[in-house]
Amino acid sequence: MWIPGYMPIELLLIITLVAFIYVGVNYLLTKMGKRIPAFPQAILLWLGAYSIFKFVLFPPIPSALLYTFMGLVTLVVFLFISSTEKGWTEFKRPILNTVMAVNPMYKGIRTVSFVVLPLLIGYGTYDFYLPKFDEPIDLRTVHPAPPASVTVRGTNFTLQTAQNPFRVDDNGKYLPVGQESKYFKMNPFDPNAPQYMKNVRDGGAIFFQNCHFCHGDNLNGRGMFAFAFVPIPANFADPGTIAQLQETFVFWRISKGGPGLPRESAPWASAMPPWEEHLTTDEIWKVNMFEYWHTEFFPRTWD
Ligand code: HEC
Repeated sequence: MWIPGYMPIELLLIITLVAFIYVGVNYLLTKMGKRIPAFPQAILLWLGAYSIFKFVLFPPIPSALLYTFMGLVTLVVFLFISSTEKGWTEFKRPILNTVMAVNPMYKGIRTVSFVVLPLLIGYGTYDFYLPKFDEPIDLRTVHPAPPASVTVRGTNFTLQTAQNPFRVDDNGKYLPVGQESKYFKMNPFDPNAPQYMKNVRDGGAIFFQNCHFCHGDNLNGRGMFAFAFVPIPANFADPGTIAQLQETFVFWRISKGGPGLPRESAPWASAMPPWEEHLTTDEIWKVNMFEYWHTEFFPRTWD
């Protein structure tokens, strides 16, 4: 496809063509006994050059270059107009007429160019330099309402009723939330530790393989990569995060990560990975155990 002005030679052709048309039209008008006065002609030339640089030239030139070119064009047009005494007098006439306001029409033009134009330019400059502040972005919802249920690796979990299968007491039965405090001070490396503590230890291994880079080895959100991210990783040691959340909410967040956040959590560029792509649901439940054990928080319950 032929793109006007794409090659320097094409630009040259276009300018030559425009010049020919310009000279031709002028010639014809002179033949018919008419001619365009010097002042409008100068404006026409100037606007023509501007349109070529601005709209025809491709790829577009930077505005600094455009201004330089237009400065040169102004000079050339000026030289061209003032090259003959007649042309120069003709060019000056409307300007002098305006300054002296020879008749009501010129009086109007004078008012416009000496009052309205400076005011407009003044306002434009003021507006250009006025510091502009974006309106504050919406506050994001850090803990949005969770979905009713999530499907993780093909299994559907209803968040209101799902239970952490590794939250078990010494008899292997489900341990109601709030009754695990007796495990808080136990040693997870004790070979005779109860099942609960073995699950915590598994969770710890998962945490230190996957999460501590961001969430920190103290679980305080100060991992070695933490400050590369906005928002920074959640601080589990702070009562404002997992201590406020149900276990299933945390399960949902670990499984789906930042990409799984609902719209009300935007604007949001959470770096939290969707762990369902790397961990089994069992591993997610176990790392969940570890986070609560380590921080000695109880998960929130639905009632
Ligand atoms: C690449 C860094 C990164 C890694 C690795 C990472 N997280 Fe996160 N995590 C984040 C960020 C950032 C947030 C805060 C934004 C958000 O809630 O999505 C977060 C938030 C969370 C939350 C939500 C806490 C809340 O208060 O809502 C949980 C739970 C969580 N991470 C658990 C984990 C677990 C478990 C792992 C390891 C399996 C892990 N994260 C690994 C970056 C990471």
